[in-house]
Amino acid sequence: MRITGNTLTRRGFGAVLAAGLLATGLTACANSDTGDAGGAAGDDKIVLGFSQVGAESGWRTANTTSVKEAAAEAGIELKFDDAQQKQENQIRAIRNFIQQKVDVIAFSPVVESGWDTVLKEAKDAQIPVILTDRAVDSADKTLYKTFLGSDFVKEGRLSAEWLLEETKSATGPVNIVELQGTTGSAPANDRKKGFGEAIAANPNLKIIASQSGDFTRAGGKAVMEQFLKANPKIDVLFAHNDDMGLGALEAITAAGKVPGKDIKIITIDAVKDGMQALADGKFNFIAECSPLLGPQLMDLAKKVHAGEEVPARIETEETTFTQQTAKEALPNRKY
Ligand code: AHR
Repeated sequence: MRITGNTLTRRGFGAVLAAGLLATGLTACANSDTGDAGGAAGDDKIVLGFSQVGAESGWRTANTTSVKEAAAEAGIELKFDDAQQKQENQIRAIRNFIQQKVDVIAFSPVVESGWDTVLKEAKDAQIPVILTDRAVDSADKTLYKTFLGSDFVKEGRLSAEWLLEETKSATGPVNIVELQGTTGSAPANDRKKGFGEAIAANPNLKIIASQSGDFTRAGGKAVMEQFLKANPKIDVLFAHNDDMGLGALEAITAAGKVPGKDIKIITIDAVKDGMQALADGKFNFIAECSPLLGPQLMDLAKKVHAGEEVPARIETEETTFTQQTAKEALPNRKY
């Protein structure tokens, strides 16, 4: 029911129609004609269906809080679904949102591939979709309105640049183990790429083992235990998030090694627990990935609902932390 290709959403049109009918005393008829779940209560609240990846990490919990708080603040009705790290759950949630005729759908895709069919269903139902945090690899960019999140390749590259500087005077091999995020996810693919490409500048730096710890503490601990058993000389751990790094800390300590000294640890996110480990000298470097996407997401939801043009990609501003800067930042860290 769009008036033109990109100018007014189905619900936006419903609102205009309802306003006109109200003037002629036909409001009740208008509600049933639009079949609009969001408007069924007779208010103008935007209804946003949000499918979250899960609750795998401190980052994710902070992201969920940001989205929920920002929705309440913006007066947007949020239908929240936790997919428990399963793509099939996310597809089911998105189909439910379509059936419920929400105004806007946002989701953080657990993996990059396999979204075309359900995104096409949303497009056919004229419900705009916003990708938040993680991207998809769909060739058809018209299947979603925008992407809001981080440059994961850059996070991997910044992590590698710190290591290149740290090891610039090394004369022998520097053995790196890598704890990857969820297999097939954008942050795992991109962080690996950014890190791998950048360390190629120094042939001494070698990734001797690389495996997924699924972005969880338990996964990080279990995989690090295997790495330690199989590799007598590990100089550096590159973990794709703080939580896996924190799990790995336990394995390293249990193996009688000193984290941050015997094994240098680089992670991504900068959640409070990670920052504490960095300030305590157990981690050596963190590239920040901000989970505080809620306010920007609500702003985008309002804009796409109103049929406004939005940029195809919006990246969050992020920084990096050393042990010293973590100590300074910790007292004001919100998550
Ligand atoms: O997609 C963002 C990543 O997902 C975070 O870096 C990680 O902690 C989370 O699980």
